[in-house]
Amino acid sequence: MSQLKLLVIHGPNLNLLGSREPGIYGTTGLSRVDKMLEELSVGQGCVLECFQSNHEGAIIDRIQQAKAVFDGLLLNLGAYTHTSIAIRDALASVSIPFVEVHVSNVYAREDFRHHSLVAPLASGIVVGFGPSSYTLGLQGLIAVLRAGGEHV
Ligand code: DQA
Repeated sequence: MSQLKLLVIHGPNLNLLGSREPGIYGTTGLSRVDKMLEELSVGQGCVLECFQSNHEGAIIDRIQQAKAVFDGLLLNLGAYTHTSIAIRDALASVSIPFVEVHVSNVYAREDFRHHSLVAPLASGIVVGFGPSSYTLGLQGLIAVLRAGGEHV
């Protein structure tokens, strides 16, 4: 099996996961999420990097730098999911397959969270499973990449 290189990007306010609105996002912190993803990727023979930023430009820079380096992206863009045409354009520019994840069920929340600007470009989307959205999303991403971009 090929050794896939995967990049996880957490957007704004996800550094506060675990303490931020625990009734919505739970009490698991971001470092625990990253550790779960790291363990899963090692078990799958993949190489994984995790990145978090509260800044739109920094996220765009990271996506641009990922071109020809990473095989797939796992993205929780936080509120930028709903607002950032610039991040969508960056994803379209690099053409790296990605899975969009959300800790909360965005469709059970405010209307402005129901629309994702990046969803039409995603290989798949996982929402509402708490921190497990990330691990489920990573499994889906690996499966799609191993199938050569096809859904399995
Ligand atoms: C989120 C959902 C977004 O609407 C929100 O802005 C976030 C977190 C989630 O993981 O549930 O910051 O992406």
